[in-house]
Amino acid sequence: MIPDSVKAELASLRIEINEHNHRYYVMDEPSIPDAEYDRLMNQLKRLESEWPDLVSPDSPTQRVGAAPIISFKQVTHEIPMLSLDNAFSFEELEDFDRRVRERLEASESVTYACEPKMDGIAVSLLYENGALVRAATRGDGQSGEDITHNVRTIKSVPLLLRGKDFPELLEVRGEVYMPKSAFDRVNKRAEAEGLKTFVNPRNAASGSLRQLDPRITATRGLDMYCYGLGIVTPAPFADAHLESLNKLRTLGFRVNPLTESACGVEGCHAYYQKVMALRDSLPYEIDGIVFKVDNYKKQQALGFVSRAPRWAIAHKFPAQEELTQVVDVEFQVGRTGAITPVARLTPVFVGGVTVSNATLHNMDEIRRLDLRIGDFVVIRRAGDVIPQIVNVVKERRNPEVKEVLLPVRCPVCDSAVTQIEGEAVARCSGGLYCQAQRKEAIKHFASRRAMDIDGLGDKIVDALVDQGLVKTVADLYALTVSQIAALDRMGQKSAENLIGAIQRSRQTQLANFIYALGIREVGEATARALANFLKTLESMISASVDDLQQVPDVGPVVASHIETFFRQPHNLETIEALLAAGIVWPEVASSDIDHPLKGKTFVITGTLSSLGREEAKDRLLKVGAKVSGSVSKKTDFVVAGEAAGSKLEKAQALNLTIVDENCFLKMLENS
Ligand code: IVH
Repeated sequence: MIPDSVKAELASLRIEINEHNHRYYVMDEPSIPDAEYDRLMNQLKRLESEWPDLVSPDSPTQRVGAAPIISFKQVTHEIPMLSLDNAFSFEELEDFDRRVRERLEASESVTYACEPKMDGIAVSLLYENGALVRAATRGDGQSGEDITHNVRTIKSVPLLLRGKDFPELLEVRGEVYMPKSAFDRVNKRAEAEGLKTFVNPRNAASGSLRQLDPRITATRGLDMYCYGLGIVTPAPFADAHLESLNKLRTLGFRVNPLTESACGVEGCHAYYQKVMALRDSLPYEIDGIVFKVDNYKKQQALGFVSRAPRWAIAHKFPAQEELTQVVDVEFQVGRTGAITPVARLTPVFVGGVTVSNATLHNMDEIRRLDLRIGDFVVIRRAGDVIPQIVNVVKERRNPEVKEVLLPVRCPVCDSAVTQIEGEAVARCSGGLYCQAQRKEAIKHFASRRAMDIDGLGDKIVDALVDQGLVKTVADLYALTVSQIAALDRMGQKSAENLIGAIQRSRQTQLANFIYALGIREVGEATARALANFLKTLESMISASVDDLQQVPDVGPVVASHIETFFRQPHNLETIEALLAAGIVWPEVASSDIDHPLKGKTFVITGTLSSLGREEAKDRLLKVGAKVSGSVSKKTDFVVAGEAAGSKLEKAQALNLTIVDENCFLKMLENS
């Protein structure tokens, strides 16, 4: 005999846990700490193991419980799962709206429901008397595969409906998708284990739903948004689509919060623009917008053509992935001689622009992709991110493809290419003899955070070097207005401005000058540390590797790069020429070095009201303090501005010294 008290406790635990699950996974509003949730779950598991007869399939403990299946069962959809017609332009959307109004003989604007078009897998969920009894893929629309065991592992899919107000039989349809964060995590894990990675979140979602073992699916972080109905008995469920979605929300389903109603085609267009602007910031991938005539009577009047309804359309965004061919692989030479392979592509329109090149980073990347010249590749451009080659379409490879070989000589200066054991990067050994390295060195020298020569852009540098007017950075200071004015697309006025900017750049700071020299691994922060610590260029030139390592944050590798740089006669000649051209900087104040904050490590979090974060960082570096991006036991001070978040919490947990903005400013002044 099972005591009533046990049954009651089980029931109340399940209700409570389901409620927390709903808040956490559907509403995104966790209501209790994880520890408390775990306690409830453990209590339920304990009771269920004591009374195994009371374990029911809809218990929250049973999401991953099902045994692996042997094969997928076919499921017939009572009402076919349709697909959607596409519109690829605003004009095509207008045509759709016109057809809708003509058929409805509507004189006024039609009300549309607008939803993001999720890039995932369409799934049907069947509930009998409020319990999930079956989940299926769309398949060919008429019949799909039974994937109940896998869909049960998606925490936001209710195993039991909330409340009491639901039809006996209810089929809910929606999209199962893999959030971008889960996709990155799943692929990183696959890579670490030497397994095949997924090409995109959609394939990853599909692969995860097609697992025989639900324990695998459960690790994939899938989620679902619901956007429609199938069979409902007794009908009707609602009078309009948006009303249905609201009812689905109250029954416990996740519905995309971006779902809205729009009036007429203008409203649809505004919605499209709004969501397109959000596209890259959304935590999941979408490939367009779905517009649906909201009213069910109107939907019925419009009916279907073949496999798509006349009352809905998908307005697709420009594709972020396209297929194209690699016509060649060329090698570019960077400032430090790094040789980077770049794929030349048959131009394709992707992510809103025409792309004809994609970086391949290094030879390891080419090996990882197993890329040959002539291959067809999937290229991806999302937002402002530089175009990437996602994968090679091996099925389309023809026998004429050519292997990509690392050149043995620099394509620009013909010097030997060298590669250090274990390093992915190959380098041209030509140094500043190499025209490409020279150009890049000059561009770096002129950049804002170095010598800040306004108006000396890439094109002008290329022209100056190509015409032999500038061989080293020191030659910049000997240029004349007439030489520059004679360059392509350069007028007298802009030439005068540029010469003015070059002259002004002679007044600089030691740290900027050191950074501008472009010594390998010497970024801005290191340059500043060197200037603060060694104070003069002379002491830096004569410093040994050991001396250099006394400088905060300079390790053996950086120290040896610095030493090597100053042992090259041509570098010393260039420096001498620069000084002769009149480059000067104020003496580095010795009081800086004795600042009480020297050597202390700071983390800045939240928003500071009286100075920007960059400025705060600059001022700390100037007094010899270090600034780090993450909180650890080694952090000396955490500066907490407005709305400081997880870093502040971590600092509190580690018992670190936390200062507010006022206190921080006082610390800085206190020199
Ligand atoms: S409605 C009759 N709404 O797009 C209407 N579909 O191209 C059928 N999809 O198979 C679907 N987001 O996988 C609808 N908000 C949304 C959607 C959506 C993504 C997918 C779905 C469907 C495909 C049709």
